[in-house]
Amino acid sequence: MEFLLDTADDAAIAKYKEIIPLAGVTTNPSIMKKEGKVDFFERLKKIKEIIGANRALHVQVVATTRDGIIKDAHRIIAELGKETYVKIPVTQEGLAAIRVLKKEGVRITATAIYTELQGYLAICAGADYLAPYYNRMLESNINAKEVLSYFVEAIARTGSKTQVLAASFHTVQQINEAIESGAQAVTVAPEFIEKGLENHLIMDAVSDFSSDWSQIHGAGSIVDL
Ligand code: G3P
Repeated sequence: MEFLLDTADDAAIAKYKEIIPLAGVTTNPSIMKKEGKVDFFERLKKIKEIIGANRALHVQVVATTRDGIIKDAHRIIAELGKETYVKIPVTQEGLAAIRVLKKEGVRITATAIYTELQGYLAICAGADYLAPYYNRMLESNINAKEVLSYFVEAIARTGSKTQVLAASFHTVQQINEAIESGAQAVTVAPEFIEKGLENHLIMDAVSDFSSDWSQIHGAGSIVDL
């Protein structure tokens, strides 16, 4: 089970790298837009430096034609290294590019996945990760949890090495459901780590422990005994 951060906010990545067992970072043009007019590769190289060599960086192409996607992929690899996962939307052009790039040994995250057919074709094309858009699927009245489970079943049935990296979450519960569907990885916005680990139920319980302690031992903690 892998947790990645879906952000290009270098400060947030540096913070949460120390909090969660971070497996990597995913980005896309919309994620990068949130950072404003930053130098694209400069920011990605900074993120790469923050997360270190043992964590994955996923970077999405912009081009939409097969040849353009291949050129974008080659530039991403040239700038950021061959260990980088190149994210490619599973369109006809994208799938054609994925097949070419996999023959070159490029790491691929097949993204913008909403349908079973997209996922099945990406698995057959040898994608390293599938990135189904959980919240967006639900918004389109697609049973996201069911579709992700079909991907997991297809991967197991075919002995594929592809992994499901679920993305697009707007609630903690959606993240839970994606994991419960069998997704091997999730990529989440940093805000959901805080929402998931510091809701009022959790914080009230911790506050009660502190209060009970201080009623017997006064201020301070165990170290102060
Ligand atoms: O990787 C795709 C993800 O960033 C999409 O998230 O919230 O725009 O659906 P969202």
